[in-house]
Amino acid sequence: MSSVTRRNFLKTAGAGVLASSALVQATSSVRAAPSRQVRHAVIGLGSQGRRHAKGFEQIPNCELLAICDVDPEQRAKTLSALKNPENVKEYEDFRHILDRKDIDTISVATPDHWHAPIALAAMIAGKHVYVEKPCCHNIREGQLLVEAAEKYKKCCQHGTQSRSGQGIKDAIQFMRDGKLGKVRAAKAINHQLREPVGRAPEENPPTGVNYDLWLGPAPVHAFTRNRWHYEWHWFWDYGTGDTGNDGIHQMDIARWGLGVQFPKAVSAPGGQLFYEDDHETPDTQIATFEFDGCYLIYEMRLWTDYPLEGHDNGNVFYGDKGVLEIGRRGCEVTLIGEPKKQLGGGSDWDANARNFIECVLANNPAGLNAPITEGFASATLCHLANISTRVGRKLQYDAAKHECIGDADANKLLAREYRQGYELPKLV
Ligand SMILES: NC(=O)c1ccc[n+]([C@@H]2O[C@H](COP(=O)([O-])OP(=O)(O)OC[C@H]3O[C@@H](n4cnc5c(N)ncnc54)[C@H](O)[C@@H]3O)[C@@H](O)[C@H]2O)c1
Repeated sequence: MSSVTRRNFLKTAGAGVLASSALVQATSSVRAAPSRQVRHAVIGLGSQGRRHAKGFEQIPNCELLAICDVDPEQRAKTLSALKNPENVKEYEDFRHILDRKDIDTISVATPDHWHAPIALAAMIAGKHVYVEKPCCHNIREGQLLVEAAEKYKKCCQHGTQSRSGQGIKDAIQFMRDGKLGKVRAAKAINHQLREPVGRAPEENPPTGVNYDLWLGPAPVHAFTRNRWHYEWHWFWDYGTGDTGNDGIHQMDIARWGLGVQFPKAVSAPGGQLFYEDDHETPDTQIATFEFDGCYLIYEMRLWTDYPLEGHDNGNVFYGDKGVLEIGRRGCEVTLIGEPKKQLGGGSDWDANARNFIECVLANNPAGLNAPITEGFASATLCHLANISTRVGRKLQYDAAKHECIGDADANKLLAREYRQGYELPKLV
């Protein structure tokens, strides 16, 4: 592999990443009653992690104390974007942040394959967690996150910030009030040009980067630019394709509007009609989720920038009194025989972050706008669509057991193998 070998990593960081002392601490190590000031750390500092660092720094009652990335360049870029960098300590290894007793809350904005391992370790160490979407790289991890938040009584907010957009909340309420009539179908649209990534050669990771820690639970693979920042989304070892990347926002809104949780069946034909490059994940997917009394249809086309039904990324709800659309233009309703009307605006990252801090201060996980239970359900839709595409057939889903009925190939994809030293922490 690279110049940063596994042996080097183990020498410098100490064996067993997820066996840190922090991970076996009881929740009692954290102050029983939160102070009026929440102390926050951000783990993973790409464009989204920088947004977290800058955003949490500005929230009243929240103090940013630490940032963490395995890439020193990302740490430097983040520090230079902060208002008060002198208050913030930088880390390469997230375990040292989890060891700090003065830190109450963390953001996880790493690639998807690290979301659940870090979020679980953090809750075990007594921290509240804001975890980016999709909360889990597979369905088993999502089940554990829900269990951990419940067991340790932690706030675990999911990065589906549409849940905190007032306009979207109003649009959902409009449907709950019956004003769109009986809603029997919703579309989740993910429609945009995502350029091919070409073929990237193997090379050494950039100097100073802890690539072994970046790989974490994933199998060892030589470094390539396409498996690195942002482009990892297109490899199953780390990402969930654009369905788990952008599509999850629309899946979440569709599921919320329909008022449903887990599907009983999923069929998701899809594949690569456009890419001929390093991509492993599909550029085209048409998924149908069956619930009692309604259908959710997800359409993904990554080949060109044009809007479907007026939206690139958006939702359409079909009721028997009209149609409601939620997209980048905000929320619009067209009742039969009436002109289109604006209902309100779109998603709100700042409000989602503020809501997290307020719930931590009030010790009130029930007040979260985007709780992990909802995040897990929406991530499950993305994972099931990907599994159906990968095995090439319709899945019957047993939501009580979180299993695909009678489909051993599909069930293998509900979990992953963890690289030695990076196993998931046990809930103690
Ligand atoms: N909610 C939203 O609207 C939204 C928007 C963009 C991205 N995201 C999510 O945020 C996450 C990050 O996305 P991005 O575009 O910033 O990706 P990115 O690849 O640019 O950034 C991820 C960063 O995490 C770092 N990292 C990897 N492993 C780490 C580890 N073990 N410890 C510390 N740092 C580690 C990487 O070095 C990198 O700097 C993704 O899961 C993505 O889905 C959410």
